[in-house]
Amino acid sequence: MKMKNELLKKFAEVFGDNDNAKVFFAPGRVNLIGEHTDYNGGHVFPCALTIGTYAVARLREDDKLCLYSMNFEEDGIGVCTLSDIESKEADDWRNYPKGIVWAFAERGMKINKGLDILYYGNIPNGSGLSSSASIEVLTGFVLKQLFGFEVSNQELALIGQYSENNYNGVNCGIMDQFAIAMGKKDSAIFLDTADLSFEYAPIALDGAKIVILNTNKKRGLGDSKYNERRSECEAALAALQKKLDINSLGELSEEEFEANKSLIGNATKIKRAKHAVYENQRTIKAVKALKDNDIELFGKLMTASHDSLRDDYEVTGIELDTLVEEALKQEGVIGARMTGAGFGGCAVSIVKTDCVDKFIENVGAAYKEKIGYAADFYVVEIGDGPSEI
Ligand code: GLA
Repeated sequence: MKMKNELLKKFAEVFGDNDNAKVFFAPGRVNLIGEHTDYNGGHVFPCALTIGTYAVARLREDDKLCLYSMNFEEDGIGVCTLSDIESKEADDWRNYPKGIVWAFAERGMKINKGLDILYYGNIPNGSGLSSSASIEVLTGFVLKQLFGFEVSNQELALIGQYSENNYNGVNCGIMDQFAIAMGKKDSAIFLDTADLSFEYAPIALDGAKIVILNTNKKRGLGDSKYNERRSECEAALAALQKKLDINSLGELSEEEFEANKSLIGNATKIKRAKHAVYENQRTIKAVKALKDNDIELFGKLMTASHDSLRDDYEVTGIELDTLVEEALKQEGVIGARMTGAGFGGCAVSIVKTDCVDKFIENVGAAYKEKIGYAADFYVVEIGDGPSEI
């Protein structure tokens, strides 16, 4: 409630008054296991967080989209009209909400009135906890609520991804938007990205916590490398398809991959595809381990995931490797791995509750010593998808 009142107050300061304004929230996400599998027809296992993005929004009588972010106050209110909605570099973060308005129109849900929207996010910027997907799903949810569109949360995820791919030019998979739109308190989402079938798996970490470790390394080249990994996997798949009747790398077992990998004919692409195949199988095994209450095995699979992302997929880097290496030395750690796209951003670990303070202190000190600047740590809770608050 305190947050809601503060946001409404700020909205009135920025837009003159807060008559008819409503307040909405969408979470960020962390992926527990299943990395770089979502564009390879594999499984992922992310969860929504209780940190995320807030929006205070109301309809306008004209066709202006007036967007303001408390995270970029120096930018002031950015204004565009609904007839001039295309992406502009100078619009920066505003291209995320604008892309959603555009994507709704593409799907036959053209809005006929403008909006005032104030955003505030408490996901650390550039941390790889999906602040952009959070803004996308949130904006979709705002449009749904304020214009009364009949659109499911799963469709909001697909619209978010569509906009990110076609408006913002990042070739991401469906994981982030899906985890955010479909989030459920205290559950992770076991999603098969080949057909979007999914189940919720309760995360009852008896006596343990999810601790996120932020490298604080800002990502720059991330996106281009991301697209590069995607095309390497696509090339590997095309080579395998010469013999195998498969639609994605996610359809292969480890044995099938080993028996056919020579078809790929390029050592780097073999490594990329190996990661995609093994990581998918690891994710399936990890969810089974969780169901069997074998949290130790779940942790081991997380750690194996990191090794594969470091050695075969090559998307970690010294900062993430240091965090994970130091994390694994600590008492009470169950598993640790990088999470999200990689190249910086965050790692995720599961740590026994009694050991969390010491864990943060020790990993923080070792990281600072080796890397030269501090890491940040967040002990997080798993939250719900978008809502009006
Ligand atoms: C980013 C993308 C996701 C997914 C991850 C890697 O977060 O947005 O679609 O590919 O990287 O698992």
